[in-house]
Amino acid sequence: MLDTFDTDRLQHLQADDISDSLERGSVVFFPQSPVPIPSADDLLLIRRELPELLRLKNISYHPEADRVRGLDEADPELAARVKRILVEVSNNIADFLTAYAPRLVDNWTVGTCSFRPIEEQGRKLDAHASNELVHIDAGAYGATNGDRILRFFINVNPDEDRVWATKGNFPELFNSYGARAQLGYANAGDNYMTKSPLDHARSGLVNMLAAAVPVLKVLDSSPYDRVMRKFHNYMKDTPSFQQETQGHEEFRFPPFSAWMVFTDMVSHACLSGQHAFVHTSIVPLNNCRLPDMAPMNILRQAARGS
Ligand SMILES: [Fe+2]
Repeated sequence: MLDTFDTDRLQHLQADDISDSLERGSVVFFPQSPVPIPSADDLLLIRRELPELLRLKNISYHPEADRVRGLDEADPELAARVKRILVEVSNNIADFLTAYAPRLVDNWTVGTCSFRPIEEQGRKLDAHASNELVHIDAGAYGATNGDRILRFFINVNPDEDRVWATKGNFPELFNSYGARAQLGYANAGDNYMTKSPLDHARSGLVNMLAAAVPVLKVLDSSPYDRVMRKFHNYMKDTPSFQQETQGHEEFRFPPFSAWMVFTDMVSHACLSGQHAFVHTSIVPLNNCRLPDMAPMNILRQAARGS
């Protein structure tokens, strides 16, 4: 599942190598971050200061609002510096993807760039918010309507690996657990993923409100996003799934390495690690070269009974 792109491989890359690997459900791994990371001074600052200030799960830069959430208690100078750091990381990741995975960035939506300042092991968060339980991501920023959730991670802990677990990719997980999770596809036919008039009315209203207050986008929904949320919750709420050894793999990401995945595709949990950047974007399903492997089309196919 790990597909390693070292410096040499990056120099001999074809335009679709990285995006194809992601679509097939690989964790695209860079032993050394190909994206410039903040200066030693900046890293020291965010490692030292942010855990103290943390009220939210993460400290996140939201480009649609051009502001950092989670820093309301910080003094303005510190807040401005943290914002500058997160914006630079976000821009550097976008520049890298534009150059090395151009298919992904066509009409994409750049989302948050976060810093995870707290040790992930033993955070005792509510199950649905916990990173320690294996899950697929669902409904980033309200509704994706089948578009893909792409996440790029950089471990900036100088000493400690970031450790992940997976239990496989969406196609095989759906095969094994889709019925048990009661995802409602049996005999659902062609309308399974079709938005109802109520969905359209809600999306219209949310779009209108979000034009003034962008964060209200999270209120949007669609049949696809509801099914993915249900599957996400099933995984986190089912101890027998969490204990399943079939398909279980663990990865260690060393200090200053980077990796990226379609997190709607690759099941994942963060078992331990502290101090990572996480950049989220939404990639249109239309950009995919292997659309039959995308969760939206797997679900559609199952509803058609073939
Ligand atoms: Fe996740």
